[in-house]
Amino acid sequence: MITNLLQGKKGIIFGALNDKSIAWHVAEKAHAQGAQLLLTNASVAIRMGTIGELAEKTGSEVIPADATSMKDLEVLFSRAMEIFGGKIDFVLHSIGMSPNVRKGIPYAESSYENMLKTLDISALSFHRILQTAYKMDAISEWGSVVALTYVAAQRTLAGYNDMGDAKALLESIARSFGYIYGKERHVRVNTVSQSPTATTAGSGIAGFDSLVDFSDRMSPLGNANAADCADVCITLFSDLTRKVTMQNIFNDGGFSSMGMSERAIEQYRKSFRDCPDK
Ligand SMILES: NC(=O)c1ccc[n+]([C@@H]2O[C@H](COP(=O)([O-])OP(=O)(O)OC[C@H]3O[C@@H](n4cnc5c(N)ncnc54)[C@H](O)[C@@H]3O)[C@@H](O)[C@H]2O)c1
Repeated sequence: MITNLLQGKKGIIFGALNDKSIAWHVAEKAHAQGAQLLLTNASVAIRMGTIGELAEKTGSEVIPADATSMKDLEVLFSRAMEIFGGKIDFVLHSIGMSPNVRKGIPYAESSYENMLKTLDISALSFHRILQTAYKMDAISEWGSVVALTYVAAQRTLAGYNDMGDAKALLESIARSFGYIYGKERHVRVNTVSQSPTATTAGSGIAGFDSLVDFSDRMSPLGNANAADCADVCITLFSDLTRKVTMQNIFNDGGFSSMGMSERAIEQYRKSFRDCPDK
């Protein structure tokens, strides 16, 4: 068992709503590896969720911040540096929300108001966080910033709606800011592309259970769960990955590289056995 991978490091974790949240698992593991944490979420999520329990478990403060508000982010980063008595070593962006997904509005019928909200909360918030930290010079040299994403950035998965567009933008921001932050301050910026995982945000996707089942069957290693995702985030926060930046790392049991599995071929044959051509 590897221990103390994050000993002496200080990090901000965005997006722990309840114990199903991927950010919750990351916070627990980061704490277990010796990190000091600051937890944040939108005020309404702090009220509705159970982040207080996580704060108690990890000995962390909770500071509310709407990730679409530059003012909130500035206050958050300056409070973090006060609490930590210096710069921040790692940041997790674990934020996603689409009004279309939430209200079941099909992609082709989205209003642009809804779409802008999806992009602002789920992708531009990453740019806002990076820009705030960069302007305030709040992240230590060789620090690490990670955002969570999904393979719908590269491929169309029915039901994922405009979140696919948001994830494509999120991954692009990781590369664009990763270049600047790496060159000028030696700060790493990466995304982790996670298997479908049963969380509050995940379960809102139309046909989510079938998506989980399909990708589990298609992946040679099976779906990765939230704890598996947290392990990958910990390695990216640690000094073991100092030269990894501007990457999208698939933590999906191999799903993203699969075309068709033997099982899927067999099932496909069966389903058409009794079907006449065309
Ligand atoms: N669950 C999955 O299947 C899955 C798969 C791949 C990637 N992801 C990504 O993982 C991340 C975390 O999602 P999760 O599955 O743990 O679900 P979750 O619902 O637990 O977390 C989403 C978080 O986003 C926060 N959020 C929403 N609007 C915000 C705002 N304006 N300001 C600050 N925070 C805000 C919510 O309060 C919540 O804590 C998301 O980026 C999601 O897209 C999830």
